[in-house]
Amino acid sequence: LKTTLGWKLAAGLGACAAVFVAAAAYGPDLARSATAAAKGAAGAAPAVGAGKDWPAHNGDAYETAYSRLDQITAANVGRLGLAFSLDLPGEISLHATPLAVNGVLYFTGSQAAVYAVDGATGKVLWKHDPESWKYSALKMRFGMGVNRGAAYGDGRIYSAAKDGRLFALDAKTGKVIWVTQTLPPDNPENITGAPRFFNGKVIIGSAGADFGVRGRVTAFDAATGKELWRFYTAPGSPEQNKGDPAMEMAAATWHGEYWKTGTGGGVWDSITFDPDLNRLYLATGNAAPYDPDLRSPGGGDNLFTASIVAIDADTGKYVWHYQVNPRDSWDYDSNQQMTLAELTVDGKPRKVLMQAPKNGFFYILDRESGKLISAEKYGKVTWADHIDLKSGRPVEAPNIRYETGDVVMWPAPLGAHSWQSMAYSPRTGLVYVPYMQLGVHFKRGEEPGFLTLGGIAVMAHKADPMDDKGAVLAWDPVHQKEAWKAPLDTIWNGGMMATAGDLVFAGAGDGYVSAYDARSGKRLWRFYAGMGINAAPSTYSIGGKQYVALLAGYGGSASSWGKPLDAGWSVKGPRRLLVFALDGKAKLPASRARFTALKPLDDPSLTLDPKQVAAGEQQYLRCSVCHGLQLNGTGGPAPDLRESPIAFNRDSLWSVVHDGTLMSQGMPSYPDLTREQSDQIFAYIRDGARKLIAQQKAAPAKP
Ligand code: HEC
Repeated sequence: LKTTLGWKLAAGLGACAAVFVAAAAYGPDLARSATAAAKGAAGAAPAVGAGKDWPAHNGDAYETAYSRLDQITAANVGRLGLAFSLDLPGEISLHATPLAVNGVLYFTGSQAAVYAVDGATGKVLWKHDPESWKYSALKMRFGMGVNRGAAYGDGRIYSAAKDGRLFALDAKTGKVIWVTQTLPPDNPENITGAPRFFNGKVIIGSAGADFGVRGRVTAFDAATGKELWRFYTAPGSPEQNKGDPAMEMAAATWHGEYWKTGTGGGVWDSITFDPDLNRLYLATGNAAPYDPDLRSPGGGDNLFTASIVAIDADTGKYVWHYQVNPRDSWDYDSNQQMTLAELTVDGKPRKVLMQAPKNGFFYILDRESGKLISAEKYGKVTWADHIDLKSGRPVEAPNIRYETGDVVMWPAPLGAHSWQSMAYSPRTGLVYVPYMQLGVHFKRGEEPGFLTLGGIAVMAHKADPMDDKGAVLAWDPVHQKEAWKAPLDTIWNGGMMATAGDLVFAGAGDGYVSAYDARSGKRLWRFYAGMGINAAPSTYSIGGKQYVALLAGYGGSASSWGKPLDAGWSVKGPRRLLVFALDGKAKLPASRARFTALKPLDDPSLTLDPKQVAAGEQQYLRCSVCHGLQLNGTGGPAPDLRESPIAFNRDSLWSVVHDGTLMSQGMPSYPDLTREQSDQIFAYIRDGARKLIAQQKAAPAKP
């Protein structure tokens, strides 16, 4: 992995960062149609939060995930019930927050199909399936069958498929108005995030930093789909950078022939439009490969990876940047949601940008200047002592960059917070964060039982009872301190939504949707969805009635960390849209139980060659991002192969994997795989199934 080619090849083979891509899960999004209306009278500040509609991924122009609707309150939330539900066969991981515009819900499924559903009745009005598998078998391998949503603007829905096609759909009919290919066809660059709509333009970023893709965003004319401008978040070769001041500045922070050895900074999740300053903020991803000495030997901060970059919304020209993790070594994406607010800090009103990135510090920036106002740990963080306010740089723990071999630190590359939305209530002044706690063990070189990613061995690490657990965390941004914390048993949970009824709504990995008192954190209501939840709720009003909508569909990164994130949901469980209202009386159809015991298949007459099993383990790494690390498939976006009848037969496994017979169901094809490699995977799966049977005999099944 010393060269770009080596890195890319390894990644393409899937023997690499798939797991971290998973950990990085990708981004949500928004539409910005509310901006103009929200501005109100000339000069007045926009009203904070969504109103009757929820027209953007995080609700409003400021990405607050907050609604001004207040019909549902602490006093009556006990009467909240299911208004209707809609089963979504064929979907797996559901990550989108439903948009609501003029009584219609719009959301995307696992492979970016857009659904339009009547918000009062649940009737499907139209569905647009981009059928990505017909366009790019390669890109289907990435991103774990995940899409984070659509944007709304000017009577259109904008959605982006994994293969890079950006669609403008008529919001009334679902008819394609235009479609533009935004990505090169032959590399791992792919889209999982939702586009954003602003000022008659649509913007989209992409994922793939872990596979050696140079980060960028591209803006398109919303009316025609014509490309307007592009901004790269990492430099290219010296010839490519020439004459571009932002790229020349960035290039000065990379050493060696970095354009051959490393890159990164993918904008796979958060892009926030600032209506006050007419700017866009880009949240950028990690650098790759993770070991900085491989990608930029001799030092350098490696701009603009793990950063927040402000660009002009009309021209896409650089304005300022703040680097959250200079010379990132730990897959610390800074792609997390950026929420805008006006806060009174030290007695002065400040236009701020708030972010709780993976690295565990809660940052408040002055969005006019890009200067750091404050940063404090919002959870268990050991990689750095504090952030120096003068320089804006972290004061890192000693030997944290693998200098002396092993490093055990918090948070894990999964992050103390990932793409799941946080919410900001201007009424309580608190930010509600879906918090995660897990440690990680890094080591240069190889280590048995660890994954090796670009020369670094990595494994999840647990040391205290809160590790591998999550929480709803209420954070006071002005005083940079915790207000309350409601613990959750699962670590991989859903995003947050806050309302003027002083409630916080969120789903969790355990299958419950809950409403919390926004001031005290007391759980006031919950509902069992029969399926783990990763997505965030939205709320809207039709005919004076307030509804809360949410997608239930566990998956995404859930299986890529193996057992630590296993919440026990089978892909056979129901994927659904759930909509609640006061006095809702609908009943949920029966659900498959969580923790249904696996039924591994074995043929005792089969002799397994340990060498072939070991080779198969390596080959299987490319599958683990969906089928689970070390074959633990539960909770992930694809079935556990130890109980698969297809994987029980060499020929049927070969035809699914090599010929792509299940492509339309989200199972990618691997035409470059040899029959020998496929048979090695077969041996590894059979060996794993046999071991599981032995384990099940030795220990009683989970309840
Ligand atoms: C991007 C995610 C993804 C990756 C990577 C992936 N799969 Fe799959 N796979 C799926 C999904 C989703 C299904 C379920 C398809 C369906 O509903 O029939 C599936 C189904 C299968 C099945 C059929 C299971 C059954 O009995 O229904 C087999 C076998 C399989 N995959 C093997 C593999 C192997 C081997 C690899 C690696 C070489 C791999 N997959 C990589 C997503 C993935």
